[in-house]
Amino acid sequence: MANLFITKSLSKLLSDSESDSQGGLKKALSALNLTTLGIGAIIGTGIFVLTGTAAANHAGPALALSFVLSGIGCLFAGLCYAEFASMIPIAGSAYTYSYATLGEFIAWIIGWDLILEYLFGAATVAVGWSGYIVSFFQGYGIIIPAALSSAPLNHTAAGWVTTGAIINLPAVLIILFMTALLVVGIKETANVNNVIVIVKIVVVLLFIIFGVSYVDTANWTPFIPPNTGEFGKFGWSGIAAGAGVIFFAYIGFDAVSTAAQEAKNPQKDMPIGILASLAVCTILYILVSLVLTGIVNYTELAVSAPIAIAIDKTGQALAWLSPLVKVGAIAGLSSVILVMLMGQPRIFYSMAKDGLLPKGFAKVHPKYKTPHVTTILTGCVAAVVAGLFPIGILGELVSIGTLLAFVIVCAGIIVLRKTNPDIKRPFKTPLVPLFPILGILICGLQMYALPNDTWFRLIIWMAIGVVIYFAYSIKHSKIRNQQ
Ligand code: ALA
Repeated sequence: MANLFITKSLSKLLSDSESDSQGGLKKALSALNLTTLGIGAIIGTGIFVLTGTAAANHAGPALALSFVLSGIGCLFAGLCYAEFASMIPIAGSAYTYSYATLGEFIAWIIGWDLILEYLFGAATVAVGWSGYIVSFFQGYGIIIPAALSSAPLNHTAAGWVTTGAIINLPAVLIILFMTALLVVGIKETANVNNVIVIVKIVVVLLFIIFGVSYVDTANWTPFIPPNTGEFGKFGWSGIAAGAGVIFFAYIGFDAVSTAAQEAKNPQKDMPIGILASLAVCTILYILVSLVLTGIVNYTELAVSAPIAIAIDKTGQALAWLSPLVKVGAIAGLSSVILVMLMGQPRIFYSMAKDGLLPKGFAKVHPKYKTPHVTTILTGCVAAVVAGLFPIGILGELVSIGTLLAFVIVCAGIIVLRKTNPDIKRPFKTPLVPLFPILGILICGLQMYALPNDTWFRLIIWMAIGVVIYFAYSIKHSKIRNQQ
């Protein structure tokens, strides 16, 4: 019986990455680039779309506390990511970390799971982008028919049904455009991302700065509306349920770690990129949710464009900000798609280098120095998923997949401190094992709160992964064959 938990030694990981740096991926990213990559991946659907329903259905004005709670879970996971990313600065993120700590089988599972976060994440946000672009054009009298801008498939109580739509074309097109950009180069990608990030931060700041004078503190009273008697409907349980919903808003800071091999000085810059992007976004999220629930009463926030509603509420005073917010949202969602589509091929790349996926996946473009084969493959599959499925189903799958990755990364830190206590750790997670355990508990609780259907889909997805592992990967694993 093969040892499923065979690990790749850290020295082997690091020497592979050394040899790879000749002729491999290009080292072009600074600490600032990495931070903006993180912010690029974080601020998107969560803040521009989900905040409204989370306030209206779960937390009320205490949505800010939901952001604090979910942010604390992400902080623990982020600290663990930062330790790994500075110690093992290799493309592949949580997949690579688990190969060194928890063994090949778990590494495969996490690599397969990360497809849910990145590939399906890009598709989810592309569907949100499509909604915003349709409404943007509508404002100028250009109508994109629903048959060409919504999902042809949906899942209802009766099972999977067709909706009559043909394809979500804008979602497909944005994915294909971003894929092309990613093939051309990591530096070009980072430059485009930097511009987009500036646009979205400015828009969010304008909303906070100009919105704050329209806050009516009566809307904050009571700050924590009393629980209705049902779990998750306001009160403290509502704050927790709200945290589960807006967790999606935080997804993305870990994407920084997928670009470790393209960082100029990963030991120092990886922790900065991961933790700084998380900190900036947490502060912005808390402020936006306070201003939002201060301008509009939470009972009126069950809408898909809550920030636009808040601006409308101020009358003509902030009318100039309204189109800017739409542009900011469209830009914001674009960069989330971009960074997610950047992360996935780099995970495939690492898995192929280890022999767990076919060799062709590890090809680097001779001129652009990007993993073009996997970038194109990721783009095509994400385009099909975005073109066919609705946002709700995709979003929950992305959340559960990401939370599972966070749990495994936190566990990995505890294991590695025991198995390799002496390795050089340029960044150390404080209070191990307490912080990783808290990370596991908070992320685990948020997973627990997700619906049974989502769990079922996660299990099916993982079962497919296990079949591929035993049919292909275990036989082609380099480390196994070397032994
Ligand atoms: N955090 C990203 C978003 O909110 C995934 O769109």
